[in-house]
Amino acid sequence: MQSNFKGKHFISLQDWAKDEIDTLLEVSMEMKRNFAMGVPTPHLLYKTIFLMFFEQSTRTRNSMEAGIAQLGGHGTFLDTSTTQIAHGEVAKDTAVILSRYGHGIACRNCGWGVGNSYIREIEKWSTVPVMNLQCDLYHPMQGIADLMTMREKTGDLRGTRVSIIWAYATSHKKPISVPLTQVLLFPRYGLDVTLAYPEGYDLPVWAVEQAGANAGLHGGKVKITHNMEEAYRDAQFVIPKNWGSWVTDQSDEVNDELLESNKGWKCTEEMIKLADKDVMYMHALPADRNNEVDDSVIDGPRSIVYDEAENRLHTAKAVMTLTMGGK
Ligand code: CP
Repeated sequence: MQSNFKGKHFISLQDWAKDEIDTLLEVSMEMKRNFAMGVPTPHLLYKTIFLMFFEQSTRTRNSMEAGIAQLGGHGTFLDTSTTQIAHGEVAKDTAVILSRYGHGIACRNCGWGVGNSYIREIEKWSTVPVMNLQCDLYHPMQGIADLMTMREKTGDLRGTRVSIIWAYATSHKKPISVPLTQVLLFPRYGLDVTLAYPEGYDLPVWAVEQAGANAGLHGGKVKITHNMEEAYRDAQFVIPKNWGSWVTDQSDEVNDELLESNKGWKCTEEMIKLADKDVMYMHALPADRNNEVDDSVIDGPRSIVYDEAENRLHTAKAVMTLTMGGK
């Protein structure tokens, strides 16, 4: 078991070795047990983390803010539009100064072609651990909570069939960071992964290649299909979620012709019937209800979305404790 994480950044789970992720999952479970029993977890007494948000959030912001408070520290929420970043302050200056004021920096910046570079620039200049709260490429806080949830529900994940399925949505042009993180991470735990999407919603070639390499190293599988029914058939976990066509079209436009031509990619009860009889429905949330998924599915007996969202708290506390605490 790895035990020295102090100062480690959390930008992509790809930067964390498998045994480090194993420890992260164990600590997350310990956080959850202690939370259930009302056992105090003062691992980060008087420590401060700055929470920079370029975009909106419900789960990420609140799991981090509640989490740092439950660890005995303080989280400072920074809507970046109200900081000097809005007047052009560069990432270097922000990173150096926030490092001097506290013990961790966390950031959400999902701008396509911008977000990951910004967080990497913060990482370059920060003297405290930097956590990615979602960028254009990765959402490691979501990925680790998803993995924890699947493991809680099934035990050993090896050979478990999970389908990451594109779904129609009109709310906004969503980042690719959730499916990209999942397709990289799940094969490292031996899962049999199907990635399904209509033509035009590809993930980057390097990510698909890396996912295949991860599968080769750890005994998982990765398959791509453009057939929605095939992805649902016999799946034990389904994760139908929208993502934008960023790789082929960098426009912010949401309701384009490509999107409208794929309105049929929706998680319905008929699709759920194709899956394993014990299939579990997951979604990072927020879901675009009745576009991505029927209410009867997300509110139905196969849905584990609230357990998945709850685990964002326990995993966030584990990430902060390991990287900001320790010896
Ligand atoms: N899943 C997730 O990251 O939710 P928020 O956008 O509400 O933080």
